[in-house]
Amino acid sequence: MASKDTVLILDFGSQYTQLIARRVRENKVFSKIISYKTPAEEIKKLKPKGLILSGGPASVYDKKPPMPDKRIFKLGIPILGICYGVQVICEVLGGKVKSSKAHEYGKTELFIDDNTTLFYSLPANISSWMSHADSVVKMPAGFKTMAHSLSTPNAAISNKAKKIFGLQFHPEVAHTQRGNQIVNNFLFRVCRCAPRWVMHSLVKKSIDDIRATVGKKKMVVCGLSGGIDSSVVAAMIHRAIGRRLKCIFIDNGLLRKNEAKQVRKVFGEYMRLNLTVVDASKRFLHKLKGVTDPELKRKVIGEEFIKVFEEKAKSLKNVEYLAQGTLYPDVVESVSAFGGPTAKIKSHHNVGGLPANMKLKLLEPLRDLFKDEVRLIAKDLKLPDNLIHRQPFPGPGLAIRILGDVTPERLDILREADERVIEEIQKARLYEQIWQSFAVLLPIKTVGVMGDERTYENVVALRCVNSLDGMTADWVKLPYDVMEKISLRIINEVKGVNRVVYDISSKPPSTIEWE
Ligand code: XMP
Repeated sequence: MASKDTVLILDFGSQYTQLIARRVRENKVFSKIISYKTPAEEIKKLKPKGLILSGGPASVYDKKPPMPDKRIFKLGIPILGICYGVQVICEVLGGKVKSSKAHEYGKTELFIDDNTTLFYSLPANISSWMSHADSVVKMPAGFKTMAHSLSTPNAAISNKAKKIFGLQFHPEVAHTQRGNQIVNNFLFRVCRCAPRWVMHSLVKKSIDDIRATVGKKKMVVCGLSGGIDSSVVAAMIHRAIGRRLKCIFIDNGLLRKNEAKQVRKVFGEYMRLNLTVVDASKRFLHKLKGVTDPELKRKVIGEEFIKVFEEKAKSLKNVEYLAQGTLYPDVVESVSAFGGPTAKIKSHHNVGGLPANMKLKLLEPLRDLFKDEVRLIAKDLKLPDNLIHRQPFPGPGLAIRILGDVTPERLDILREADERVIEEIQKARLYEQIWQSFAVLLPIKTVGVMGDERTYENVVALRCVNSLDGMTADWVKLPYDVMEKISLRIINEVKGVNRVVYDISSKPPSTIEWE
């Protein structure tokens, strides 16, 4: 049964290739990324309704530029070339590409000259995201301009009779206004796809793939963090191979209040996973004694985590795979393209940061996906709602929210304060709307007065941010009454705190976590 239409994306090495695939998926059309080298006959066999040629770092004037099988242009399948993709179209079909006088990087105003087909229902000008040095100076025969910018006369071109389109800008990135409409127009107006593909199909396929990869005898080990990514991975693998999945949850002593208990309940009792909880809190706290430098904290925690995990994993027999909740933004090298230098600023650690020398093969079923897609999968797998909507929590836990020394006493103070933040944010029905809301314990004391007595106690900072993917973030304009309740409750109920302040910094230039 032909249950889905397929659009193939020929990858020329762009950092946005997955983003194109995601935009197609969002429109309920199945998409598959293949190498730009795939022969035309193989492409034909897959019966795609459309082809998208991605961007890429090369120039058609390089010595050996990556070029597709030229016969793809004779298959009669609609083609959309993006950035390097449009230059490929020109090069193959007899146009001319040249290094532009003015390079265009970033937001560029685009003037639409033809608002049919690809640009149907778009306004006369939109803001588009460009990132190119070369551009089309002569179109191939039969092509016309569909849009221009001030320095690129052929910012969009087409041969409508042959259904071949080319865009110098990137419709797949969020910075291009109505970019999704352009992708939608290509899929439905040009390729005539039917929107039939759903996330469920991807889940089913991934589970089948896991079963086929792991085989009938081998075991898989998975480090659970309690967060959504590793939970979804565990749930998928559990569906595929049942009790042959062994999950390890390490309590590093840096978790929030009742977190370890909840993990045992959800994963052990509710999901019935083969789960081992390791209480390593003493080891971690011992190693952290006297460590105040943020990077050193992260390093110590990361290394200790690996040691504990390895010790546990070694005692398991027949394990061949290590499952990780790696997501696409963790994989893409140039995440900083949109101004998110996170990966270079902090040594991020999560259960994904395990060493290659564990000699286990990796199983990473989410590595092509984005966080919100993982939430959809979690829904499809019927994971509990409170897990699906859980705000992200960093691998190094509360240690990077306690500035300075991490001691059991300071952990207790922060746990109590944090619990009140979460409770009040939930009461105000803001929890699911906010990317993260949490408390930070500062390394200073201030003077206060309680019941006629002078106090000299700790300061807690409240941090609430909105973000799409953690790469950039805005501080949340919390209603004053919510702030007031949080402050009152923390100061009145948490021993050792006499002041609460609100963090009004965005990322960049700040980061979400304080360390
Ligand atoms: P920053 O502080 O870099 O955080 O702006 C961006 C997002 O990443 C989370 N974060 C981490 N997550 N391991 C993780 O799994 C880490 O080491 C780590 N450090 C930060 C942070 O909570 C925010 O959502």
